[in-house]
Amino acid sequence: MKETTMKRGQFLRELGLSGSALMAFYCMGTTLTACSTSSDDPTPDSGGTGSSTGLTGNADTSKGTISFTLDLTNSTYSGLKTAGGFVIVGSVIIANAKGTIVALSKTCTHEGTTLTYRSSQNDLYCSNHGSEFSTTGAVEVGPATRSLAIYQAQLSTDGNTLTVKA
Ligand code: FES
Repeated sequence: MKETTMKRGQFLRELGLSGSALMAFYCMGTTLTACSTSSDDPTPDSGGTGSSTGLTGNADTSKGTISFTLDLTNSTYSGLKTAGGFVIVGSVIIANAKGTIVALSKTCTHEGTTLTYRSSQNDLYCSNHGSEFSTTGAVEVGPATRSLAIYQAQLSTDGNTLTVKA
């Protein structure tokens, strides 16, 4: 019995596959990373550290005491320079509340939903069951009954660096 060897590409071409279908077979037959177009860098962990992300320090309560700085020239955080802008960094929601930067726990004290800042009401709102908190963390509307943790937020004199700590 005569055994012939055939390269995969040749085999697939003989099946009548070409172009993208052929490429798909190549990708499936090799490691997926070989065909990946994404970089090897994972999405930056907003709770971690790394000045390349504009965040230095710890913003995650599960990793210890909150203490971090944000580079407000970084596009991820530059919205905080504008009244009404807000970002969520790790465990913290930071908002520019009518020109004053405030930093509070992002977690609704009712059942843990992540809050949003509403510039029109100048409050923190939970879309899950409708709790509302003031920018000092006090409950304004339930069902939540416990206030939010609030953090110190200090802008640098040039307005480009924000320091947040417990
Ligand atoms: S989880 Fe926020 S109001 Fe229920």
